Amino acid sequence: VSCERVFALKTTVVKRIGFMASHYYWCDEFSEEENWAVFKDCANRHGHGHNYQVEVSVEGPVDPKTGMVINFYDLDPILHRAILAPMDHKFLNAQVPFFSTHVPTLENIARFIWDRLAPDIAAQHMVLQKIKVIEHPGLFVEYDGNLEGQPA
Ligand code: NI
Repeated sequence: VSCERVFALKTTVVKRIGFMASHYYWCDEFSEEENWAVFKDCANRHGHGHNYQVEVSVEGPVDPKTGMVINFYDLDPILHRAILAPMDHKFLNAQVPFFSTHVPTLENIARFIWDRLAPDIAAQHMVLQKIKVIEHPGLFVEYDGNLEGQPA
């Protein structure tokens, strides 16, 4: 087979990884009563845990020789640095500085991952397309940081 005959262009690859972490929801701008009214059970400052799943979507050209957008062996250490190293088996509020100023919601976790990941993906000449963070099968967020700063 001649590798040169492959003419696929851009393709999106998706990698899913899991991590475990605990958190609680609290905003210092709110009173004690407001925190409980807004965040309900999640305001319990002793925390509770989730088995999070993260889907990272990366787009790039298919290399005609390898047939790949990126070799997963190359992607794994990037995802480890951005996601697992800071958050796996951590109490997010207390152990991740970003979450001392941002409530560790799914939305903010997705943003945290995006900001750490996007430069590394760009350095691999690919485009980070989407971060999906899943708390359980019925509850997840999707974040596309490429849309930031563009008019609605
Ligand atoms: Ni929770």
